[in-house]
Amino acid sequence: MPEHILVAVAWPYANGPRHIGHVAGFGVPSDIFARYHRLKGNYVLMVSGTDEHGTPITIAAEKEGVTPRQVADRYSQVIGDDLYNLGLSYDTFTRTTTLNHYHVTQDIFKTLYEKGYITRQETLGAFSATTGRTLPDRYIEGTCPLCGYHEARGDQCDNCGHQLDPIDLVNPRSKIDGQPPVFRETEHFFLDLPAFADRLSKWIAKQDHWRPNVRSFSLNFIKELKPRAITRDLEWGVPIPLPEYEQRDDKRIYVWFDAVIGYLSASIEWANNRGTPDAWRDWWQNRQARHFYFMGKDNIVFHTVIWPAQLMGVFSDGHYAGSAIGAFAEIPLQLPHNVVSSEFLTMEGKKFSSSRGVVIYVNDFLSRYDPDPLRYFLTIAGPENQDTDFTWAEFVRRNNDELVATWGNLVNRTLTNVYKNFGVVPTPGELTPADSALIATIDAGFTTCGELLEGARFKAALTETMRLAALVNSYLSDQEPWKVLKQDRERGATIWYVALRCVASLRILFTPFLPFSCQRLHTYLGYDGYLAGPLKFTEHNEANGMSHRVLTGDYTTWIGRWAIPDLPVGQQLREPQPLFKKLDERVVAEELARMEA
Ligand code: MF3
Ligand code: ZN
Repeated sequence: MPEHILVAVAWPYANGPRHIGHVAGFGVPSDIFARYHRLKGNYVLMVSGTDEHGTPITIAAEKEGVTPRQVADRYSQVIGDDLYNLGLSYDTFTRTTTLNHYHVTQDIFKTLYEKGYITRQETLGAFSATTGRTLPDRYIEGTCPLCGYHEARGDQCDNCGHQLDPIDLVNPRSKIDGQPPVFRETEHFFLDLPAFADRLSKWIAKQDHWRPNVRSFSLNFIKELKPRAITRDLEWGVPIPLPEYEQRDDKRIYVWFDAVIGYLSASIEWANNRGTPDAWRDWWQNRQARHFYFMGKDNIVFHTVIWPAQLMGVFSDGHYAGSAIGAFAEIPLQLPHNVVSSEFLTMEGKKFSSSRGVVIYVNDFLSRYDPDPLRYFLTIAGPENQDTDFTWAEFVRRNNDELVATWGNLVNRTLTNVYKNFGVVPTPGELTPADSALIATIDAGFTTCGELLEGARFKAALTETMRLAALVNSYLSDQEPWKVLKQDRERGATIWYVALRCVASLRILFTPFLPFSCQRLHTYLGYDGYLAGPLKFTEHNEANGMSHRVLTGDYTTWIGRWAIPDLPVGQQLREPQPLFKKLDERVVAEELARMEA
């Protein structure tokens, strides 16, 4: 039975172009996972969009001297293009500024408010001493009152993991101008997290399949849950849906409260856009559906604690305020099944920093290199389980010595020889035990690599797939079909057939990681149609007269299957081209010089 799999990908802030560290964390892993499950025949819904509210956007707008809306419009376009060019196969990549998202967010806020899970409190808010504007928690730094760490943030101390409020910090200062913030009385709405403490701790304790750091971080976090402010003194954001606030433009819902709701609202949008408005329920109101969230490690608690609390609260007693969800509002929504968080990528030994020039943006990267080598690097050497470093030297080395030398070389020598000598898939003679054993070993990859992918162990899965490709190379070196063919055409044809048959399997096994080159290989092998592609943009109008772009695709047309392929003897091949380019060593010096400039 096909499974319903929700692939919920962290929403990138629309405050600038994304660099390769971002897509290493949320982008490439989630796409590998979604592609694998689609090839398996599962029903995948992969959703996300640009995160367009909050101070990340207003600060960028101030810097660029434009409105928050203009910043959001500009960068949601840029980011959407980047994700498309990387081949990230979202079913819906939308925006948090859609009318649909506003409705779903406000309904959830109202529901939690009516149930008493959202309360009002006067608090001390932090404001910038220079501009008088709210200072977001994350832009306040100071010393942690609990462990003494000097770079604790207003929301949390990354050293001891404790949840903080800006007012708790010793010697607080604004990260923007270094000035101490001014604290003023202001009314805010709070999500009553302690009300969920029991349910959350029982639920998290059961999640043995989470990565150990995710589980322990979350368990630690819920030890001392406090009500959490979910509104901010800002003009930009989703309005608070209560009569006395609707007309005011100085308070908005906190960006994190609305962003996580995006997973649900984007699913609802997907269903509406395809004319089946209830289809999202198959993932969200189906106890068998499994939800996988992908993000960088700084996002963990929002996905393991706060969003689950929002979900638990909304559907706790069947009452639901609003119309966005409509019928069946009494059916609870699924909680996360797994929260796959990655560590951080650094660049040439340093933290990515746009202002210090330590950065390579996705669009720059893709203007000079192909997407598959980047996807390869970020998977094989990315921050899946520990912080890792991107260096140009290592990128060039892995491209040349691994991707080109192993997989590229196998494909290239097999296809050029077979194309030249036969033009079609050759007819094999009787297979030797070594021939059959090799095919069986490669085909076993559907099980072994499949299990690794299933467990979100992308690096191990790719390493195993590369090992299989290397086995076929050794087989060719042993058998030397180019020599054999001259004396014994039938045996030569058999060896080439075996190699081709292994390449046909590897074409599928590599597809989740390297979709662009696998599609080309698919056509060289004489197959038609799309193994796993393509993506497209669609435009959608809403009732308020605004329109927005969505990244999507019709993935039901994929003909690739995660299964032993059929390679019909006599199938006409197409003239092959190399799958990958060898990079000149000079690239390293050039790129380093570019970074300095
Ligand atoms: N915009 C956030 C970031 O870049 C991530 C938001 S993920 C979501 O850190 F859960 F809110 F959607
Ligand atoms: Zn601390």
